[in-house]
Amino acid sequence: MVKPDGVQRGLVGEIIGRFERKGFTLRGLKLFTPKKQLAEEHYKDLSQKPFFKDLVDYITSGPVVAMVWEGNGVVKSARKLIGATNPLEAEPGTIRGDLAVQTGRNVVHGSDSPENGERETALWFGSDAVEQWQPALAPWLRE
Ligand code: RTP
Ligand code: MG
Repeated sequence: MVKPDGVQRGLVGEIIGRFERKGFTLRGLKLFTPKKQLAEEHYKDLSQKPFFKDLVDYITSGPVVAMVWEGNGVVKSARKLIGATNPLEAEPGTIRGDLAVQTGRNVVHGSDSPENGERETALWFGSDAVEQWQPALAPWLRE
């Protein structure tokens, strides 16, 4: 997900492009401003953290771009492409390492396990079908 700061800063294309160029497949995409209840459910594991209210305010402050990406090892790889939670500790070359300076404005979210990826897809996309399609380049990306 591109967070509200990423959308406001015009980084949607840059971020999507990195996942496309890596070779993952886009299966779902939508832009909207999440309601508080959705943000709280999404980050429920962090509900006891002192920054939880600020986090929910941040995520609901404007439109986000929610996406579903598919591919071998996509969750682990996406976390690497995204970089460390604190952008000042994120390696150059990562999204956060290249494009952000503060944890509270770290431009992008990535699921932290395949199980959470499934949970978050259901939460953000509901019963909307996530598109099943075969990229024409598939044989050039995977043997
Ligand atoms: P995300 O879930 O958004 O992909 O980020 P993450 O896995 O790298 O980090 P996580 O621990 O899940 O934290 C979720 C988001 O909460 C905000 N945060 N603020 N002020 C703080 O100390 C703090 N710590 C975390 C960040 O927006 C972080 O991405
Ligand atoms: Mg997380």
